[in-house]
Amino acid sequence: MAKELLEKNEQLRHLSTSFKDDLVKIMVAFDVLEGHVFIEEGDQIHSFFIVESGVLMRTKRRSGDGNDDDQCILIDEIGPGKMTGFLHVAGHDVDVAFATIVSGKGGAKVWAVDGSHFRLICEENPQYASEVIKILTLRLRSTSKIVRAIVEQKSGAPVDSKKKVLKVLCYDTTSWVKENFEPKVKSFNEKRDDIELQMNYTQDRLNDKTARFAAGYEAVCLFVNDTADAESISVLSMCGVKLIVMRCAGFDRVDVKAAKTFGLSVARVPAYSPYAVAEHAIALLMSVNRRIPAASTRVKMSNFTLESSLLGMDIHGKSVGVMGTGKIGQILCRIITGFGANLLAYDVFESAEVKDMGGKYVSKEEIYKNCDVIFLMMPLLPSTTHIINSSVLPLLKKGVILINTSRGGLVDTSALVSGLQSGVIGGCGLDVYENEGDYFFQDWSGKPVVDNTLVSLLGNNRVVMTAHQAFFTSEAIDKIVSTTIENIDNYSSGLRGGNLPNSIW
Ligand SMILES: NC(=O)c1ccc[n+]([C@@H]2O[C@H](COP(=O)([O-])OP(=O)(O)OC[C@H]3O[C@@H](n4cnc5c(N)ncnc54)[C@H](O)[C@@H]3O)[C@@H](O)[C@H]2O)c1
Repeated sequence: MAKELLEKNEQLRHLSTSFKDDLVKIMVAFDVLEGHVFIEEGDQIHSFFIVESGVLMRTKRRSGDGNDDDQCILIDEIGPGKMTGFLHVAGHDVDVAFATIVSGKGGAKVWAVDGSHFRLICEENPQYASEVIKILTLRLRSTSKIVRAIVEQKSGAPVDSKKKVLKVLCYDTTSWVKENFEPKVKSFNEKRDDIELQMNYTQDRLNDKTARFAAGYEAVCLFVNDTADAESISVLSMCGVKLIVMRCAGFDRVDVKAAKTFGLSVARVPAYSPYAVAEHAIALLMSVNRRIPAASTRVKMSNFTLESSLLGMDIHGKSVGVMGTGKIGQILCRIITGFGANLLAYDVFESAEVKDMGGKYVSKEEIYKNCDVIFLMMPLLPSTTHIINSSVLPLLKKGVILINTSRGGLVDTSALVSGLQSGVIGGCGLDVYENEGDYFFQDWSGKPVVDNTLVSLLGNNRVVMTAHQAFFTSEAIDKIVSTTIENIDNYSSGLRGGNLPNSIW
């Protein structure tokens, strides 16, 4: 278990195998009862600790106003895989603990590494010392980034003192974000004499480590691959963030319960251009069906021949299934009827408009059995996760084309790859991929892609893939930016939680 724990720790996992093996020998496990204080603020620290299970809380005394009783404030919580005390031990300082460490609800299981043993193995193995320096350097870099951000905020252009300043940190910024937000923020500020919106941008994605960059901001603006899980939200809340504005519709990476617990409001852009996504889904279908990427490459190489690998099918007269007939699904249904296809639909709520268009609601199984093309147009929820999985493959009509522009997690990608290999799935068009967070919106052209499932998709000529760009039209971007600013404005006027017009709850 000690070795597994080292692998879980963000910093220690990078140590050499021999260092980890030596560390395991000096790690001692112990249980801490709920509420038990095992380091008192002001105590000397002789060990560092790694949490296996449960939570440790770091609290700091703050003197009450003239009252003898000390008040404690919670600084942060250290969950499984996290460590505390490492800087004291690695630095061999005689410093004292700056906070009290108490075990949280239900107690905790913790491993201790004694400082003198730790330093001894470092002295016996000088290469370990350079590994420790690397950990300390990473910590230093991360801390200086926060300090720089705070200094930059403080030294920003002075604003009219009558205006209330609202600072927003925009995570996962690529060029289009800044280019489109800046002019709209500027014109918002020019029109308003009561509020000044200050939007700063970072390329970092939100996660439990980057959440601290939001120190001093009242709001953060997030996109599809930012992770607002309970841990990130607790750090955001400690940094003073009160509002999350999603510049997208989906919020499957936001822990709604944690946001409510920490009192953060969350608003999104419920609809920007459903046409953009529906039209892109059709583009993917026609690219897969008529082999457009391969055909275009051949023609560009002056190969003007036709061969059976380019053969497609008429969509006219085929059975096309739309799973999820919400805003995007309904627009897609209308386009499909234009092809003269037989429209079959599946949704937990039936839409009168889809029926008026001639669509027929059927069960999932009937969609699988009858459809030549299936579009996934539903949100990612526990009930829809891996809705296309290996048990669905035998139910599908042979050669079906699958199109997913919604969320990658709707499809078990390993099952999709085996369906493509066996020919059950004739082709697929994907704008989303379940592990896209590691790759999408970044340039990997000079680096090896190590995700084997993604490599299988990229190398398959029956797959047409785009990197989450279905929404990307000028009309949609315009709506995303203006609705996000509207959401911030609604918050600044005092609306909170479920009272915000575009709240996610
Ligand atoms: N690729 C992109 O750029 C992009 C852009 C915008 C939206 N999207 C994705 O598209 C999805 C659909 O967007 P929308 O605006 O049409 O959403 P929507 O909320 O209007 O529609 C979703 C539909 O799915 C249905 N649904 C929910 N759970 C279901 C279930 N278990 N089984 C069957 N149907 C179910 C709902 O009843 C609803 O009709 C979004 O959730 C988002 O993930 C992707």
